Amino acid sequence: MNIILLGPPGAGKGTQSAGLVERHGMRQLSTGDMLRAAVKAGTPVGLKAKEVMERGELVSDEIVSDLIDAELAAMGPETGAIFDGYPRTAPQADALDAILARNGRSLAHVIELEVDEDALVERITGRFSCAKCGALYHDTANPPSNPGVCDSCGSTEFKRRPDDNEETVRMRMQEYRAKTAPILPGYEARGIVSRVDGMAAIDAVADAIDAILRS
Ligand code: AP5
Ligand code: MG
Repeated sequence: MNIILLGPPGAGKGTQSAGLVERHGMRQLSTGDMLRAAVKAGTPVGLKAKEVMERGELVSDEIVSDLIDAELAAMGPETGAIFDGYPRTAPQADALDAILARNGRSLAHVIELEVDEDALVERITGRFSCAKCGALYHDTANPPSNPGVCDSCGSTEFKRRPDDNEETVRMRMQEYRAKTAPILPGYEARGIVSRVDGMAAIDAVADAIDAILRS
């Protein structure tokens, strides 16, 4: 089963993807994570993407679609894909259709996490992750159970994203409204869109997503 998790910055796409990977053995394909890895490694893609990401703007359609294409081609056909943060524009949505068709896959669900934008700034500026395994946390909503120690791997080192400041978050939200939200009607016409209350507690959001996958 292949699904898209759609929602503005901070909606919980990464958090819910991690849960789906654990519960259902699916694979998370996050273009944001792939781009951050490329920036860290200093690859040609990373060099192109770094400043664009720091401004909160979108990286070119071609770069992100190529990343998804390569990752999907390397996946076994039995593993379901969770598209996290992709597609984000109409050309990316078209590219994904072509990539899925080439790989003999189809989209089962597009799940939109509905959230209150004002609360998102708080969520994003409070976000941090484990420097070793990438597990996601929040200062107040989702701290590690043992303060300063990662629940998943026991590491004591954490990091914050350079684009997680209020100014950049506002730009990321603007990009979402202008370029990403308009791809939803195309998926609605196919009858594959479901909506989940992304403001609910993390476990409740996960239950709602699981109910959609069973439907
Ligand atoms: P990307 O990494 O995709 O960032 P984003 O879309 O802005 O989304 P986030 O990762 O910020 O939020 P999320 O929905 O994953 O929330 P999370 O689960 O972490 O993209 C970054 C940049 O890369 C873009 O700006 C662009 O430049 C570039 N890029 C990436 N993909 C691209 C593409 N396809 N095309 C072009 N450019 C692209 O949760 C946030 C926080 O809230 C966490 O602290 C979490 O613990 C907490 N939280 C989560 N759920 C809940 C809940 N239910 N209740 C309370 N707290 C919660
Ligand atoms: Mg994310």
